[in-house]
Amino acid sequence: MITLGIESSCDETGLALYCTERGLLSHALFSQVDLHALYGGVVPELASRDHVRRLVPLTRQVCQEAGIQLADIEGVAYTAGPGLAGALLTGAMMARGLAWALQCPALGVHHLEGHVLAPMLEPEAPEFPFICLLVSGGHTQLIHVQAPGDYRLLGESIDDAAGEAFDKTAKMLGLSYPGGPALSRLAESGDRAAVALPRPMMDRPDLDFSFSGLKTAAITRYKAFTGKDEVDAEQLTQFKADLAAGFEQAVVDVLIGKSQRALRQTGLSRLVISGGVSANRQLRKAADALVADGVQVYYPRLEFCTDNGAMIALAGASRLQRGESSDLAVSVKPRWPLESLMV
Ligand code: KG4
Ligand code: ZN
Repeated sequence: MITLGIESSCDETGLALYCTERGLLSHALFSQVDLHALYGGVVPELASRDHVRRLVPLTRQVCQEAGIQLADIEGVAYTAGPGLAGALLTGAMMARGLAWALQCPALGVHHLEGHVLAPMLEPEAPEFPFICLLVSGGHTQLIHVQAPGDYRLLGESIDDAAGEAFDKTAKMLGLSYPGGPALSRLAESGDRAAVALPRPMMDRPDLDFSFSGLKTAAITRYKAFTGKDEVDAEQLTQFKADLAAGFEQAVVDVLIGKSQRALRQTGLSRLVISGGVSANRQLRKAADALVADGVQVYYPRLEFCTDNGAMIALAGASRLQRGESSDLAVSVKPRWPLESLMV
């Protein structure tokens, strides 16, 4: 069965074709990063308008690259939430219209289910059950994944998501949007131990996170340093790198510490890390070190860590194959808890 996947929940237009027998056939992505960089963050109306411009050409592109005709598509999966309402609607409308024209089913997919299952696109896919550390711009969650569709939330951020904290701290340091990758690059030339920052919620036995206080601590340290009279340009450059490194290390320590706790509490040994922040090199290094404790660690390939159509095509394909579909009325869910997928 060939499924077209459409992702348009935020600032990336992602299209992909996934075949249940042959795997991923093709995928294409247009990132709106340059469009929003000017404003220092995503402008929802601009995002929706740009999705509208990209959806049809990218659909043609993935069909051409897979060597198939539109008529060969047997199901259309689209991100129905969570995300920006207008942006979600562009993909949903396109999916519904196309499915109607092709007389095939369409299905609204949960964006986070896409991220959770993204490592299944890799040759060495994890077996179930596993713990998923989902770290993106909008979410930081630890999920007990029993089977596809069976998700139990073990803990989550009570304020900022990890990616959001990366982005806000990067903005304060004058780095361009999206700040996560830029802050990580800057951290490479910094000393991780030079600026002491807190490890929020680590002293609590639960699996929740909080990154807002860490971001504020970083901002306070930055203001204290730049408020001094005798700081020269070279010292400021080094301080920024040290602060970036200290911040990154604090986030990584908390994410890995709580993931270890989730593995211990559930008795599981497989850890999947997905979502935009799973592209972070320092996080991967720390997670890879868990192998020494008998933990098997899985990630999506780098291009499938951030938003993409392939993960939506994959997540939708298995549900469509099981006979699920969404009705003709187009509706999206900007807020949609992952656990509500459980039947
Ligand atoms: O999953 P994603 O593409 O979008 C959401 O669903 O939110 O994640 C985007 C987030 C952004 O906050 C971005 O700064 C962060 O992932 N990110 C990173 C890195 N690459 C992307 N954060 C830290 N280090 C990275 N290398
Ligand atoms: Zn995402």
